[in-house]
Order: sequence, then C-alpha cells, then structure tokens
Amino acid sequence: MISDRWSPSAVEGLISLPLESLLTEDYEADPALVHERLRARYGPVAPIDVLGVPVWFAIGYDEVLHIMQNPRDMWSKRVDHWRAYAEGRVPADWPLLALLQADNSGFHDGERHRALRGPWIAGLRPFQDPGSEQAQRLERAMVRHCDDLAGVLAEGGPAGQADLAAQYGRPFPLLVANHLLGVTIERGEEMIEDQWRLLNGPDSAGAYQRLYAALLELAQAKRQRRGDDLPSYMIEAKPDLTDEELARELMMLSGFLDFTGSLICNVIFEAITNPRLRESVSIGAIEEVVNRVALTNPALANLTFRYARSEVKLGRFTIAPGDPVMLSIAGAHTDPRFGGALARDSVRSTRAHLAWGAGPHRCPSQRLATQMCTIAVRQLLDRFSALRFTQPAERLPWRVSPFVRTMSALPVHYEISRSFALTLESAGEPAPPAAKDSAQDSGTGGGTGGGTGGLTDEGDARPRSRLRAFLGRLLGSQ
Ligand code: HEM
Repeated sequence: MISDRWSPSAVEGLISLPLESLLTEDYEADPALVHERLRARYGPVAPIDVLGVPVWFAIGYDEVLHIMQNPRDMWSKRVDHWRAYAEGRVPADWPLLALLQADNSGFHDGERHRALRGPWIAGLRPFQDPGSEQAQRLERAMVRHCDDLAGVLAEGGPAGQADLAAQYGRPFPLLVANHLLGVTIERGEEMIEDQWRLLNGPDSAGAYQRLYAALLELAQAKRQRRGDDLPSYMIEAKPDLTDEELARELMMLSGFLDFTGSLICNVIFEAITNPRLRESVSIGAIEEVVNRVALTNPALANLTFRYARSEVKLGRFTIAPGDPVMLSIAGAHTDPRFGGALARDSVRSTRAHLAWGAGPHRCPSQRLATQMCTIAVRQLLDRFSALRFTQPAERLPWRVSPFVRTMSALPVHYEISRSFALTLESAGEPAPPAAKDSAQDSGTGGGTGGGTGGLTDEGDARPRSRLRAFLGRLLGSQ
C-alpha cells in the first residue's frame, strides 16, 4: 500500500505511474509469470512498489547487465544517493532500510568500495585455489560435514522422512563458515546459532548485536594472533582495515551463506524433480547442474538497489536522478532475448548468466559457493539411493522474500544407499586415534568417520550426538 508521502503531488515520474506490488501471492507462486506480465506491459523496466516504496524493477537482461557493469559510474549503491531517502520520505521502519544503510563493501562505490573489496579477494584466494592446502582441507571438511548431517538425518532408520532444507541444505554452509572464520568450537556453535536466528528469527535484532560483538572480538583476536583463516588473510591484505570495518564485512557472511544454502536447496529440488538432471548428476556433471540451476532458478533472485546519479533512459522510461532501481537476476534470465533459447530439460547451459553478478560488485566467491553446492548435492545423492517429495513438488512452500527465491522446506521420503548403510554400521566403533591432520580432516569422503560432528577445523572429533543436539537447537529456534 503506497502511503500519502508518495502521492503524485509529492513526487513526479516513477510515482505518477500505476505501481504493481512485487510481493504478492502471484509472485510467490510463479515470479516468471509476473515478469512476463510486467514485460508485456512496460518492457524491460517496470515501475513497482516494494513493501510500499516505489522502485524501478529492471527485468531485461541487457538493462540488468548494463547497470551491474556501471559504465562511467552512472549508478551508485550508496543509500544517500536515493532522492526519496535524502528527502526523508522513506519511513524509518521500512523493513529493508537497515540492509540498504549498511556500511560495508556491498554498499560503497569507487575508491572506498575497492579498498574494502580487496581484502575479500585476497582473503578468499587460498580457499578458492584448488592447489592450495587451505582449499584441500576445506574441501575435506565440507565432505565431513555433509556426511555428518546425512548421518544425523538417517538416524530415523534406513528409510524415513526428513526435511532436506532444515536438516541439510541450510545448516551445511553455516558449518563451513566456522572453517572460514577460524573459530573455536564453542564460540562457533554460538555464532552459527546467531547467524541462523538473524536469518530466521525470532530475536533477529538480538542475534545481530551478539553476532556483531562476536565478530568484533574475533577481528581483535585475529589481529593479535593470525591463523589460516579468512579474517587473518583479510587483515594481512589490508593491515589498516579497522576491527570495526572487518567485523562489518564479516557480518555480510550470514547473507551469503544463506544464498548458498538456498542454492543448494534449489539444486536438490531440481535433482529430485528433473530426471534428466539426476542423470547428469550420476555421471558426475554436478557442477554443470549447479550452474544451470543458478540460471533457471537463481537463489538470489533480486538484488539490492542502485540509484541513478543523473537522468538516464532505461527501457521505455526516463529514470530521474536519485531514483532506485532493483535489479532482477531472475527477470533477466527469463528475458526472451536471453533465456528463450534454453530448454528446461537440456543439460547444457550458458555461462553468460548473471547469478553471480557482474562488474565491480561481482561475487568474489563464486568458486567457493559453487563448490559448496556441488559437494552438498554429490554427497546427498551418494548417501541416499532414493529421495521423493512427500507431497507434489508444486505444493512445496516457497520462502517469501524480496531477494531470495527458494523453498522453505524440502520434505522427502528417503532411503539410504547400501554403501552409506555400511559406513553407518561401522560408525558405532570409536574413531581411530588420529594424527593432527587426519583429526582435522576425519571422514575424507569415506563416511562419517565415527560420526564426527566437528564444528571447526580445530581438530575435534565430536560425537554425532553433539551435532544432533546442535541441529535440534537450530530447528527449535526457528
Ligand atoms: C549461492 C551463493 C551466492 C550467490 C548466488 C552470490 C551472489 C552474489 C551476487 C549476485 C553479488 C553481487 C551483488 C550486487 O551486485 O549487488 C555478490 C556479491 C558478493 N558476494 Fe556472493 N554470492 C554467493 C555466495 C557468496 C559467499 C559464500 C561469499 C563469501 C564467502 C560471498 C561473498 C560476496 C561478497 C563479499 C560480495 C560483495 C562484493 C562487492 O560488493 O564488491 N558470496 N554475491
């Protein structure tokens, strides 16, 4: 509902047009149909309202790519370039405002943006270079976490029911976060629980405060004593990055890990519902399936706003200086100029999609996120011989969000594979005493390694009961 502060007498241009609300039941059910309707009516850029605020919605591939690439710095990501915001017309309690006001690399331009982005690129490098020891250790830890989650999931018996979103796809990236952050197991559990609460509520605000305090403390600790982890590498890359700046950058991880969990869920959905994709999974082409799902069902469907720095023609409209534009990756991918050529059951796909962004703000973590998805789906399909939804796929619940598009639950009947049954059988035996490296990396693809529920790479071999209790707390706090 548009309030009086947006009345045509107050603002012209965008607001003088009829505005369609974005978050409707239609959109939740099938965003592609809404994109099609908007495209037919307005072309590649449409006037919409997002939770009561007027915004341009870019759904044309060329337009979205052009704005992402940001030639001649025509667009800003800084909220103070939003005219309505500067004029005090955006309500202080508008739900997306706190996100758009964030003081981190995602919402800066130019030199300030480059200065904050540099540490990310440098900090992620060791984890994304397949030849590095860091990347190899992380990969082994990822496999172990997947197997631990699958082990807990299968505790109901060799066949049963589970929610693959809540019990597998979404917690997995949060477990990986601890390896990236280099935190101790106790602290790691608290932080993961707060990352989860931040995204799922309740007590989202409390979780934000606690998580920020924990990340600030972590930044201070890593400055004193470096480790082989993301914060230490980021400090090394830019020693004058303050602890507060580093903590604010690391706060972004919750969102990114949520996108990763969402993409995992979208790939699992495709793998269960599209037999041709399952075939390609079985021949080991999972990375290609991940790429394809990033295109056909991007987890991050829409991006935060860009603000026009000067008047610019976009699609059929003239965008006034200070107008906000929301970029729709999902809309761009269904633009007939781009996506029309792709048949749903084709196993090949284009790499020219925009799921990882483009231009100066392009995701610096594409490889790592793809790897997390690939390993999660590969291990799942290896550990379970049958996965069927407990209800028709079209009735599965979608999560309501202006940005993320994914199922809120993936309820399945499962049957575990023979090889996993054997691994689980032997998991009752005590884990062999391990040398440092193998303790850190126990379960290197060969199974649960005694059911370890290690939440860090600090060398713990944890009983599965600990992971079970931890997952129970996560699910209980939803
Ligand atoms: C499936 C998972 C992910 C998706 C779909 C994704 C996608 C994206 C996209 C589209 C952007 C550009 C946003 C914009 O232009 O407004 C972005 C930026 C970013 N991503 Fe990712 N990302 C994912 C996972 C991750 C992970 C796991 C990390 C870190 C470990 C990460 C770190 C970042 C950072 C730091 C930026 C901001 C870059 C900047 O503003 O210069 N992403 N991501």
